[in-house]
Formats: sequence, structure tokens, C-alpha cells
Amino acid sequence: MNILSIESSCDETAVAVVVNGRTVLADCISSQVDIHKIYGGVVPEIASRKHIEAIYPLADQALQTAELTRQDIDAVAVTYAPGLIGAVLVGVNFAKAAAFTLGVPLIPVHHIRGHIAANYITHPDLEPPFLCLVVSGGHTMLVDVQDYTRMEILGGTRDDAAGECFDKIARVLGMPYPGGAALDRMSRTGDPAKYPMPKAKVDGNPLDLSFSGLKTAAINLIHNAEQKGISLDVPSLCASVSEAVSSALVSRTVLALEQTGRKTLAVAGGVAANSRIRAEVTEAAAKLGVRVCLPELRFCGDNAAMIGAQGYYEYLAGNVADMTLNAYATKSILGKAL
Ligand code: KG4
Ligand code: ZN
Repeated sequence: MNILSIESSCDETAVAVVVNGRTVLADCISSQVDIHKIYGGVVPEIASRKHIEAIYPLADQALQTAELTRQDIDAVAVTYAPGLIGAVLVGVNFAKAAAFTLGVPLIPVHHIRGHIAANYITHPDLEPPFLCLVVSGGHTMLVDVQDYTRMEILGGTRDDAAGECFDKIARVLGMPYPGGAALDRMSRTGDPAKYPMPKAKVDGNPLDLSFSGLKTAAINLIHNAEQKGISLDVPSLCASVSEAVSSALVSRTVLALEQTGRKTLAVAGGVAANSRIRAEVTEAAAKLGVRVCLPELRFCGDNAAMIGAQGYYEYLAGNVADMTLNAYATKSILGKAL
């Protein structure tokens, strides 16, 4: 089944062609990062306008790359939630028009389910059940993936997402948006023990996390140093922050693996590209005898191939939409599109 898939929830316009949820024939991305960089973050209206300019030519490019014609497309999958509402609407409206004119099913895909499905592309033998650590710019949670479309949230952040924490600290350090990757690169030569960071304790669910205290502590440290004219060891600060985020994630992941008894762990989302998190998750899982699946770096951040991968399984589960499909800024990963 050839699925044309669309992703436009933030600042990347993306169109892909994916066969049976696993084989990527085309994966086209038009990034707006250079435009939003000027403003230090994504400007929602600019994002929507850029999506509408980019999406049609990108779909043609995806078909050309896949060496397919429009008649070869069997279904259209699209991110319908969550994201910047104007941005998601562009993708949903394009997908509706495409499905309508091609006379094929329209498949709504939750963006975070898509991130999880990026692992199906990189690891063709990966099948549920498995535990997934989801770490993106807007989400941080532990998801028990019981089946391709049946999931349970075991825990998550009470405040900031891991990516948001990295991005805000990077911004105060003067790194260009989005700072997560730059902070990661900078941290590689630093000493992670140099600036001890607070470890948040969250009452209630032991699998829950909190990153706002860590973010505030790091930003206060930077501002204090500036005021006192003290020069900071920036690589070591970045390493200390990365270490604090990673150890918080790893400790909850280990606990979730012990609680569920799952023998496979996947990591998903933009922050899954983080070198320290990749290394520490791999090491912790190995100690438990658990298999680890990490998406290839190009499938960690937003892309449409992951939407095509999850779209296939949503289709098999009967989760198709009619032309009343709408876009949503927020929606639970457990929710339904209609
Ligand atoms: O999943 P994603 O592309 O978008 C959302 O769905 O939110 O995640 C983007 C986030 C940003 O916060 C970005 O800074 C972060 O992923 N990120 C990283 C790295 N690469 C991207 N964070 C830490 N280390 C990285 N190497
Ligand atoms: Zn994303």
C-alpha cells in the first residue's frame, strides 16, 4: 500500500511516500528554520504561510522521487494533531483535497504516534509490544505501546518537555534556535560534573518528571555569572544540563521497564537525537538485557515518513476519516481524530 503522507505541525513542511508502513520511497522536507531563527522561535503565522507555499511543490517532488504517479497512491495520511493550529490546518486541508481528488482513504495521524512509528522504519523487525520514551520539543512521556494503535501513558513531564528545557537554556546561552542540537554539540567537550543541577522529585507517580526547576536553575546560573562578570565554562554547563536531563529520563525509563517487564525499548522525538541520551539509554537497557531501538537521526525530528509509517497501521485498524476531519492544537495520543 503506497501512502502519501503529510506533516506540517510546526516549522517543517514534509511530504513522504511510504510502502506498507516500513519502506520509505520518498521523504521530502522543506525546513523553515532559517526564517524563524531571526525571531528566536517559531512565529505561527509565518509558519502557516510558508507551509501553504511549500506543500504543493513538495508533494510533486515526493511523487517524482518515489517514481510514482498520482494514480499509484492508495491513501493519504496526515498529522491532524497536535501542533500550531494554523500550521496543522494547512496539512490537513491539503490532505483532504488530495484524498478527495484521488478518491483514496484519508488517514489522520497523531504527531506523537508518528514519532514512535519512526522506529518501524529504522528497525523493520520492531513490533509492539514495547516501551517508548517519547522526547520531543513539546512532549516528554513514557508510553507503553501495546499494539500499533493501542497505547497507555505511564508517566510524563508535569511541566516543560525535555526539548523545551534544552531550547530555553540554549537561547539564554545565545545559541541559535532551535538550540537543542547546538547545546548537544557544545556539551561533548564539557565536564558533566562541573555544574551540579537540581534533580526534581515529583510526588505521586514515580514515572512522572519535571524539568522546569532544572531550566530555571541553569538560566539563573547564567544570569548570575553575567551580572558578576564571571565567565562560564559553557561546554561544561551544556554537559551538566544534558547529564541532568538524561539521568532523569533514564531513571524513569528503567523503572518503567522494571514495572512493565517489557523487553524492548524505543526512543522517539527530536530529542532522541541527543548523543548523551542515546548513549545512556543504550547502556541502561543493556544492563537490564533489554533491546533498544533508536530512530536513525534523520527520522528523530519532524518528518512525513513517520506519519506514513503510523498511517499504515491506523488504516489497518480502521482509523480513517471523512471530509469533516479537523485539525487540533492539542489532543491526547490516546484520542481519536473523529
Ligand atoms: O520532535 P521534534 O522535531 O518536534 C516536536 O514535535 O516538538 O523535536 C524538536 C526538539 C527541539 O526542542 C530541538 O531542540 C530538540 O528536539 N533537539 C535536540 C537535539 N536535536 C533536536 N535536543 C537535544 N539534543 C539534540 N541533539
Ligand atoms: Zn515532532
